[in-house]
Amino acid sequence: MEFSELVYARRTVRRFTPEPIRQASLEKILKAGLAAPSPNNSTPWSISVVTNGEVIQKMRHAVNDRLDLMFSGINSEQKAILDKVKVFSTVFANAPVVLAVFSRPYQAPIHELLADTDISPEQVGDLRRHPELQATGALVQNMLLAATEEGLGSCWISGALVARRELEAILGAKDMHLETLVAIGHRDAQPHPKEPLDLELYVNYIP
Ligand SMILES: Cc1cc2nc3c(=O)[nH]c(=O)nc-3n(C[C@H](O)[C@H](O)[C@H](O)COP(=O)(O)O)c2cc1C
Repeated sequence: MEFSELVYARRTVRRFTPEPIRQASLEKILKAGLAAPSPNNSTPWSISVVTNGEVIQKMRHAVNDRLDLMFSGINSEQKAILDKVKVFSTVFANAPVVLAVFSRPYQAPIHELLADTDISPEQVGDLRRHPELQATGALVQNMLLAATEEGLGSCWISGALVARRELEAILGAKDMHLETLVAIGHRDAQPHPKEPLDLELYVNYIP
């Protein structure tokens, strides 16, 4: 598929068939992710591939339990919203493959200048709008496009991250921060390609 076609063909898919993903397709997707740019080429990321149904259900429970804990005293109207939030936060639970994308703190050259200052690495990271997190976004988008090219559906799921600590414990994260989940599988229906957005609404040319 030409890039100009691929970029519009990629749509979020939330329902998957149980058919497993071919290892060759999975590796193509992972390699595309790892080809993303990163600050100073630091590649501050890792990807955990989860295909074990028991682990995936454990993750789903962790997200639902966390949401229940966060919103225990709500009324019935709010409960309906919470139910929707749960659905969108646990889309991964019906996918054959869940990719957990981690970042590790990025050691920028500027950090070497901080020793004699009262500026912390965290403050610099904040000023620079979290380069390692930005890099994982590029990685995820590459994977979504590669999945589309492989004829697969995918969903980027940040909703699950309300249970970040619990998910990190389940996945055995070491010195890494879970940034997002990506569900991948065979889609149960072919989505419509995306319409390009109106440039005038989103783009400003600065004179
Ligand atoms: C950073 C990010 C987080 C997202 N989190 C979720 C999520 O938690 N659950 C979900 O169902 N979709 C999630 N999505 C998918 C969006 O809802 C989807 O991209 C959007 O509705 C546009 O549809 P499209 O992907 O088909 O263009 C997320 C997308 C992005 C980029």
